[in-house]
Amino acid sequence: MCGIVGAVAQRDVLDILLAGLKRLEYRGYDSAGVAIIDPDQQIHRMRTQGKVSQLCDLCAQQTLPGSTGIAHTRWATHGVPSEHNAHPHMSGDNIAVVHNGIIENYEQLRAELQKQGYTFNSETDTEIIAHYIHWQLQQNNDMLAAIRATVSQLQGAFALGIIHNKEPDRLFAVRYGSPLVLGVGIGENFLASDQLALLPVTRQFIYLEEGDIADIRRDNITVYDHQGKEVKREQRQSEVGYETSDRGHYRHYMQKEIFEQPLAIQNTIAGRISKTRILDELLSQQNSAILANIKRVQIVACGTSYHAALVARYWLEAIAGIACRVEIASEFRYRQNVVEADTLFVTISQSGETADTLAALRSAKQQTYAANLTISNTPESSLVRESDLALMTYAGTEIGVASTKAFTTQLTALLMLTLVLGRKQNITAEREQQLVTAINALPQQAEAVLGLDEHIQQLSRHFIDKEHALFLGRGLHFPIALEGALKLKEISYIHAEAYPAGELKHGPLALVDKEMPVIAIAPNDELLEKLKSNLAEVRARGGRLYVFAEQNFTMQADDNVDIIAMPDIHRVLAPILYTIPLQLLSYHVAVLKGTDVDQPRNLAKSVTVE
Ligand code: M6R
Repeated sequence: MCGIVGAVAQRDVLDILLAGLKRLEYRGYDSAGVAIIDPDQQIHRMRTQGKVSQLCDLCAQQTLPGSTGIAHTRWATHGVPSEHNAHPHMSGDNIAVVHNGIIENYEQLRAELQKQGYTFNSETDTEIIAHYIHWQLQQNNDMLAAIRATVSQLQGAFALGIIHNKEPDRLFAVRYGSPLVLGVGIGENFLASDQLALLPVTRQFIYLEEGDIADIRRDNITVYDHQGKEVKREQRQSEVGYETSDRGHYRHYMQKEIFEQPLAIQNTIAGRISKTRILDELLSQQNSAILANIKRVQIVACGTSYHAALVARYWLEAIAGIACRVEIASEFRYRQNVVEADTLFVTISQSGETADTLAALRSAKQQTYAANLTISNTPESSLVRESDLALMTYAGTEIGVASTKAFTTQLTALLMLTLVLGRKQNITAEREQQLVTAINALPQQAEAVLGLDEHIQQLSRHFIDKEHALFLGRGLHFPIALEGALKLKEISYIHAEAYPAGELKHGPLALVDKEMPVIAIAPNDELLEKLKSNLAEVRARGGRLYVFAEQNFTMQADDNVDIIAMPDIHRVLAPILYTIPLQLLSYHVAVLKGTDVDQPRNLAKSVTVE
């Protein structure tokens, strides 16, 4: 998704802006640009389609002095990826704007501005913002008033960074529905859509609230709320380590993040689990009291986080005896649903900024849920700040667009939550102790599964020329099949589908022939024999099988069957551990196909638009 960086300083800001954009690259984008006010009060703008490195090359061809500027990476929504659609957008030579989000009524505003004589140089919804501010400025010559008047006309969700050449020491920020954070420096201040962009220059942040407009100067920041009232927003110290976004000796961030999973899981359970039980530290003691009365759970999420929710449904119902419903956030938010008494509303989101999940939470808050809880990897995110309760995963920054360590830590957190919620219903102290022992062994088992890397790398060669793949699982491994298929299509662009294996003969079996790789997740559980019958159906039709299974799995391996031997695994933990080889498979296939593993085409890390 789009990224914003801005700075007002005593030094030249070009390098800060470009470095900030580089740190936002992981979010996914297709063009980039920067605008800086020079010492003669002229705005210089450079834009390019493609990567930030291309923008850096362009900027290196000339000197771009100036201590106030804004920069942007664009993920196209309105208008193709191109230089002329890249941000910043300008009105004349005076106003430059960068924008994240979508302006829903831009066509109407564009028509209104055309009547005023404004001409447009892009197909974006953003350009109207620059012109509207310019138009308003003609009427009252006050930037804050012009911005307020403009914002009052805009419908949609947006975050803005704005500069005006006549006010070279001011930078303006607006937050309406899209994340924006202010960085506080010494004699210099910043703005960004993600604190990660600013970590090399500051660790002090102010998180704007919905409707806030900030007037940012070198030595002062004034924030106004949606009613125009001056407000104090708390300044906080960030604990995020920016060196974590270093790839180290790994070829891709995704690879690094797959291999970080034992540590990420360890960090997520550390201090929350004893040898015998889940500690109250999982959530505070007070929150545990709220959870004690919960009888039902509604989970809402998108993408990989939705798959984590699907696994949790099996755990909550089978282990905790708690009824659980799961829904994709973009569907939930527009559906009339019935809320039953004592239902906990749960959102799951790595970024904590996914627009649909956030909107679902906001709509749930208008309903009669007993409480809401978010499971997130990003402490200062909107979901964490707006939820009653937060259960953090400690995966560390995830840069690869394909979610890996975020998923397995979400599952770990959900399993711990299951035990806490189930205490009043199904789970005895003895059962809790058994499961806790298993959870404590998770990091070590994850490490053992990573040992399959080389074998999987060899198998990945079989997939290079494939156009389709089918993933099969049963029970709580059907969501893992879904996750395996999502990973493969997302980064290798191979069309992949997942089915509960029992559904095969109701349609998808028609697709099976020798060209169709079928990947089966076959842990040693009560459905294994059923699954084996389903696999026999595939085999009988000449399908090429790749079966992930434990030592005691018996099936004649031949030219059409590869069995990938997993270590023996506790049944309840199997979804977490069977995910890892599927991540490795997708990764190696993508590397062989030469795709952009960390920033796959058309995708963004943090989906902050609807
Ligand atoms: O940040 P979130 O967990 O809310 O993101 C949800 C999805 O956009 C995300 O999981 C997406 O599906 C991943 N790219 C999948 O690898």
